[in-house]
Amino acid sequence: MDGNKKDPQIEALIARMTIDEKVGQLTLYADELRTNNPNINPDVNRRKSAELLDDIRAGRVGALFNGIGVVGGRLAQQAAQESRLKIPMLFGADVIHGLRTVFPIPLAEAASFEPDLAEKTARVAAVEATAVGVHWTFAPMVDIARDQRWGRVCEGAGEDVFLGKLFAAARVRGFQGASLANDDSVLATPKHLAAYGAVAAGLDYNSVDISEQSLREIHFPPFEAAFAAGALSTMSAFNDINGVPSSANHWLSTEVLRGEWGFKGLVVSDYTADKELILHGFAENDQQATRLAFMAGVDMSMQSGLYAAHLAKLVHDGEVPLKTLDESVRRVLRVKKALGLFDNPYRSLDPSREASDVATPAHRKLAHEAARRSIVMLKNDNGVLPLQKSARIALIGPLADQANLHGPWTLFANESEAISLQDGLTRAAGNDAHIKVVKGAEIDAPIEGGIAAAVAAAQGADVVLLAIGESERMSGEAQSRTEIVVPEAQQALAEAVAKTGKPVVVLLRTGRALALKGAVRDASTILVTWFLGSETGSAVADVVFGDFNPSGRLPVSFPFESGQEPYYYNHKATGRPYHAGGLKEFTARYRETDNAALYSFGSGMGFAPFTYDETQLSGESLPWNGEVTVSSRITNTGKVAGEEVVQLYIRDRVASITRPVRELKGFRKIQLAPGASADVAFTLTRKDLEFVGADLKWIAEPGAFDVWIAPSASTGTPKSFRLLDRKE
Ligand code: NOJ
Repeated sequence: MDGNKKDPQIEALIARMTIDEKVGQLTLYADELRTNNPNINPDVNRRKSAELLDDIRAGRVGALFNGIGVVGGRLAQQAAQESRLKIPMLFGADVIHGLRTVFPIPLAEAASFEPDLAEKTARVAAVEATAVGVHWTFAPMVDIARDQRWGRVCEGAGEDVFLGKLFAAARVRGFQGASLANDDSVLATPKHLAAYGAVAAGLDYNSVDISEQSLREIHFPPFEAAFAAGALSTMSAFNDINGVPSSANHWLSTEVLRGEWGFKGLVVSDYTADKELILHGFAENDQQATRLAFMAGVDMSMQSGLYAAHLAKLVHDGEVPLKTLDESVRRVLRVKKALGLFDNPYRSLDPSREASDVATPAHRKLAHEAARRSIVMLKNDNGVLPLQKSARIALIGPLADQANLHGPWTLFANESEAISLQDGLTRAAGNDAHIKVVKGAEIDAPIEGGIAAAVAAAQGADVVLLAIGESERMSGEAQSRTEIVVPEAQQALAEAVAKTGKPVVVLLRTGRALALKGAVRDASTILVTWFLGSETGSAVADVVFGDFNPSGRLPVSFPFESGQEPYYYNHKATGRPYHAGGLKEFTARYRETDNAALYSFGSGMGFAPFTYDETQLSGESLPWNGEVTVSSRITNTGKVAGEEVVQLYIRDRVASITRPVRELKGFRKIQLAPGASADVAFTLTRKDLEFVGADLKWIAEPGAFDVWIAPSASTGTPKSFRLLDRKE
């Protein structure tokens, strides 16, 4: 889409449109024609189907969201064809990690450290979404999440910017496909602009008070990567930034987004975020809220009806220039055109595709692959895993059954189609299966006699698989937590089972990093299984029985204590740095705990150990316009083939803005046969050493840098080099 050239078809339309018709194109309502799910969003502005069709015919609404189905979609599109100007409708939906085929939550997929995998799952999500009449997905969420109390950590790629950028771009490529105009491509919406992951105290919807330097260095880059990959829409966030709500922030949505980044797409508000300007104390009334949001650069209003109610009058009164209205309409029409909707309003409304293109065996196969690649094994003492299929297993816990498999953000899938742990393990063990299943506790409450039954099952087994963690409703939107722990009833269950002395394998389901305690932390084996979606049980069974060697790594640091949050590996140093190994007074530490991660970003292991030879540098210096190569020989010293995520970190020793203690600058996932070695090399240039300086521009400063090739953010031994001055 060439955003600078005016499109004659669009210009001709704009010339004919009334102000009300223009406002209609900027109005997005929940699709009450096709779904009416009160669980999705607050029950406001509920509209009846007939009224909705009338509004479409009258040109009062140009887009609908969160309804699916070809029949209803055709009805709505037909109504648009009966309108004066026949402008096609745009159908959006929250297709976050799959439609009917549910892939792992985005955080879990980030644990694969395989952006290509996320591109593939996003592609299939797009195929399924377009098969049921969706043109536009409200994904990917690209918010960097450094505070695990925030429930929406599960929707993004975790705490790291480098990883976040790669996954943001990969998902956009997957959703949008080779061309947006293809029948099976969906428009992507990197969200939430901006810094929503930085809400104070991890409390959803809370304020963000942040330096512009951090905004530009940490929170903006995944958006820039997503736009560079071609995303043509974005969503304004609920939170304010330094006192100005994101949904009325001219600097953000106009100066930075369009001015600096050259974004040509449309900005949609988050759900009623324009109206919420009043509750923020930023606007006095609906009319003012409309003007502030719209003039800031928010083109389309989601669900509040504010633009529909007030924008026309604001234009008539001269408070909103007609030119600005036209520009927003132009953006929306351009996106509709890029999607091919003017050529074929019934694109993605093909009844035969609706029947054949969702929940296919090929999609399930990819869901299975993505799920097992998302699992992170944090420990495996005494090689408890893999198990023999004939092992006597006690599968204990409230997460063994047919529930809580998909995760917090699936609107259109049926959980009965997903494979539970119980089913997956039983199927995989086949005729040899000796699996006794005991719930032991509810997710949040004890069961009478539950612990006794669990202990008895453990005693009669060779090994305990403990299926515990968070329910689907414990993470996601509005699910902030003060204690990021396994709920008490399940912790008590874990303690009792551990006392039997049987080896315990924790299968930890979660939408965020957790502070693991007691018997959970001390179990022989811990598998972080997140929410894995449709193929949960088969993927976990693969790892448990050794049919798949786990290769995921943590995209978020697991702290010792909830009170350490926000905890992230790439924090600054302080003048009183924390010393590992023994608490030292007057250093940056807590009274109760080490100021470190229990398991840092990048942690994880497989069934084969890997060794890293000393890091090698091609030279001691990196010329200003040159490069330096950093390498290490990695060896699989185990007895089985395995994959390793080789990670490259740097630290800028001295800079005009203090730098993090480590920053990820590269990684490579390699596969090695038992006994095999590989030389893994990374090339660094000045560009990799840049940061946002005091003048808010990206700069690199000559001087000393540490560099690690390591298996996680908390391991390895650094080497050093100097970035030379341009005159050196
Ligand atoms: C609110 C959420 O913040 C956003 O991510 C989502 O896309 C909208 N609701 C629409 O459901």
